Amino acid sequence: MVCLGNICRSPLAEGILQEKARLAGLNWMVDSAGTYKNHVGEAPHTLSQKVAKLNGIDISQQRSRHLQAADIESFDRIYAMAADVMDGIRAIYGAPLPEGKVQLFLEELYPGENRDVPDPWYGPEPGYHEVFHMIEQTCDAIIAKQFTVQV
Ligand code: 4NP
Repeated sequence: MVCLGNICRSPLAEGILQEKARLAGLNWMVDSAGTYKNHVGEAPHTLSQKVAKLNGIDISQQRSRHLQAADIESFDRIYAMAADVMDGIRAIYGAPLPEGKVQLFLEELYPGENRDVPDPWYGPEPGYHEVFHMIEQTCDAIIAKQFTVQV
């Protein structure tokens, strides 16, 4: 799960998908990172922590880290929260991205629409609730796909 600062959106996505995978009995390792370096080492934004906690998910132990090119090799799937994040991933990797591995997160819910998860960083609390629910719905779709026969 990748966003810009790894303090607002992707920590929510990490916490939500990890919890849903656990509940579904899937032994997944979910992680998150940012394409910006300026928040490295910080805990998630207080409003991301608050909204997660209100929904029963504790993300307080996460710490922001900068995406590494090696992450793109080692993880099976990389989700970018928005198009500018995808640009950052490309810049960090420095080579054509591996086919089929990196995609916009909301493509899982709205294929072909190139939608971004809006950045709540500049706004007030309602934006964090909106983003939480958008991410939660998408994580539900990701989990459901594991239990659907692909034809
Ligand atoms: P995030 O939000 O990418 O969802 O963690 C942001 C956090 C910090 C900044 C931008 C977006 N920033 O410019 O510092």
